[in-house]
Amino acid sequence: MHDQQQTLFERVGGEQTISDLIHEFYDRVLADPELKPFFENASMGKLRRMQREFFSAALDGPITYSGRPLSHVHHGTGITKHHFALYVGHLIDTLQDHGINDQDAQEIIGRINTYSDEITGDVGSAG
Ligand code: HEM
Repeated sequence: MHDQQQTLFERVGGEQTISDLIHEFYDRVLADPELKPFFENASMGKLRRMQREFFSAALDGPITYSGRPLSHVHHGTGITKHHFALYVGHLIDTLQDHGINDQDAQEIIGRINTYSDEITGDVGSAG
């Protein structure tokens, strides 16, 4: 049993775990032939740094995301629900690989899924 008083960020192991997770996660994403092309011109160092911030903040950690709004970053890139599902699939594999328990993993995926419309451009003219 884990302590429900702790934030999700604390439960998974804090900054070091998030850093390890993001590293492995992007290795998986870049090894996926359907996702790799999107990242050809991306600065992976900055992206990993921004993702560490974003995930830490999304899991209620004591960190503020300093990057651009997700809808702006992903707008016009042609990322579809299919790509989004592949991406989330790699995240699930990464969480399992790191021994994150099922309940925490489901909570993380639930939070990440709420960004689907911003990423895949289904946000109408608001993006
Ligand atoms: C919920 C899922 C996702 C989240 C939370 C997310 C988050 C982010 C963040 C925080 C950045 C950095 C923003 C910045 O530099 O200011 C970023 C950049 C990027 N993301 Fe995502 N992303 C998601 C899904 C995806 C998917 C599915 C793809 C492609 C298949 C993708 C492709 C990219 C690319 C190529 C960049 C680099 C853009 C650039 O530097 O020009 N993202 N994303």
